[in-house]
Order: sequence, then structure tokens, then C-alpha cells
Amino acid sequence: MSFISIETSEHIGIVTIAREKKLNALNTQVIEELSEAFKSLAKNPDIRAVILTGSGPKAFVAGADISGFPGLSAAQGQALAQEGQQELFDRIAHFSKPVIAAINGFALGGGLELALACHLRIASENSRMGLPEVSLGLIPGYGGTQRLPQVVGKGRALEMILSAQMIDAQKALDWGLVNAMVPLEDLLEEAISMAQRILKNAPFALGAALAAVQYPKAGQPEGFAFETQQFGSCFGTSDFKEGVSAFLEKRKPNF
Ligand code: COA
Repeated sequence: MSFISIETSEHIGIVTIAREKKLNALNTQVIEELSEAFKSLAKNPDIRAVILTGSGPKAFVAGADISGFPGLSAAQGQALAQEGQQELFDRIAHFSKPVIAAINGFALGGGLELALACHLRIASENSRMGLPEVSLGLIPGYGGTQRLPQVVGKGRALEMILSAQMIDAQKALDWGLVNAMVPLEDLLEEAISMAQRILKNAPFALGAALAAVQYPKAGQPEGFAFETQQFGSCFGTSDFKEGVSAFLEKRKPNF
């Protein structure tokens, strides 16, 4: 039985986590299947953006599967986090095509970390987000302590991580944790519209912009040097020729 479905429509891959009875919690099978889905979407030249969502009206992902935790040693716990980071969370964060999380309910623990690994986030009005790990005697292990402060700032991130409390979609929007909030019934349509707005732009430039923003040393001299290099590489592309010609000829570019 698979816990992942992939649909494709007009250059957009829609990946749905389908483990609704367990609120789409991430067990090793879900993580492996998601990883495989992203590997195949990366290789598919017809796909230019990805939307990641959860099935059902209640949860995006209610976290890592807690039922797999009892009995794990410190070394096994570390290996679990390391494998998940490498195989899934970092793969999404460094994906060369834009990835949008369509958050359709609870995004907790590993679920919020999964949304944070995506490049953009849209939440349904019923969504609730949090990192409750300290209430279980753990800390976030799939990038939560690293990515959340980058998105909402250290103070707000520490408030969420240390209190283990959830915030609602409105607060997530106010804090910049999500880019937009819409009624649940409009969520997928809004995510598709966002992807379509992005896909009007030059594919090579989109990949270069993602690589520069996601560069591990962003903000440091190496990050500025990487941006310069990416900027230069755009000049050699047919996308660049088309984009500039279209502007000068007062027409829409055809990428
Ligand atoms: N891991 C494993 N199973 C989970 C899960 C998780 N992270 N989150 C939910 N489930 C399971 C529940 O055990 C339950 O299974 P059951 O029907 O076989 O008993 C099912 O999903 C439905 O969840 P339930 O708790 O009954 O729904 P609820 O509406 O009462 O509560 C939540 C929803 C999200 C508040 C609650 O499920 C929850 O707190 N989940 C854990 C969140 C968490 O701590 N995540 C971080 C993990 S590191």
C-alpha cells in the first residue's frame, strides 16, 4: 500500500500524503515514498513546480510517527533524523524547482518542518502549526531549530519551540510563516495559481534564484560570491535572450 499520490497537470506535480487515518504522520515508509517522489519529479523535465499537501480536511502532517519512537537509542534517534534530513527534508529545500506546501490542517513537528523545507507555504484557515517536540522530551530533528528562526526570527521561533504551543493560521500569516491564507476549499486552487504565476518566468533563472537563496552560506561573503556566479550564468541562456528580447519588442516572453 502506498501512502503517496502524484498527479501532474500543466507542468505542476501535486504530491499528496495519503495516510489520513494517522493524520498523515511521517513513518519511514512515508518518508521513503516522498523521497522517491521528489527524485522522480526532479528528473521529469515536464515538471517545473511542485505542490505538497496532505489528504483530508484535518491535517497536512501531524508530525513524525511517534509510535516508532519507543525503544530507540540515542544513536538510532540520531540516525533516524540524519536519514530523514538527507533523503527528504534537504532534498526538498535544495530542489531546483519551486516547491509550495499547501497546508491543509495540522502541521506539527516533522509536519511543520516539512512545510519549512518547502520554498513557499499557503495555509488553509483551519490550519494550526507548532513544534511540540519538547513536550515529548525531544527537540525538532528535521531542521526545525535551523529553518524556523530563518523564517520567523529567533524570538518567535524560540517561543514556538520552547512553549510547544500551536499557533493558528492567522498568526502564522502575521509572522510570515506562511505566504498566504485561504479557506480550505480554495487551498489547492490557490497553490496552483501561485505556481502558475511563478511558471510565467524563466525556468533557468528560477532554478538559479532558488539555489542562491538556499545557498548554505547565504548572507556571508561566499553567498554573495555565489549570487554573482549564478547571475553571470544566466547570461549564457536562451531564457535570458528570450526574456530581454521580449521586453525590448514589447511582447510577452515565451519560455
Ligand atoms: N504519530 C503517530 N500517530 C499519530 C500522530 C503522530 N505524530 N498524530 C496523530 N496520530 C494518530 C493518533 O494516534 C490517532 O490514531 P488512532 O486513531 O489509531 O488512535 C489518529 O492519528 C488521529 O489522531 P487523534 O489524536 O485521535 O486526533 P485529535 O483530533 O484528537 O488530535 C492532534 C489531533 C494533532 C492534536 C493529535 O493527534 C496530536 O497531538 N498528535 C501528535 C502531534 C505531535 O506531537 N507531533 C510531533 C511529533 S514529534
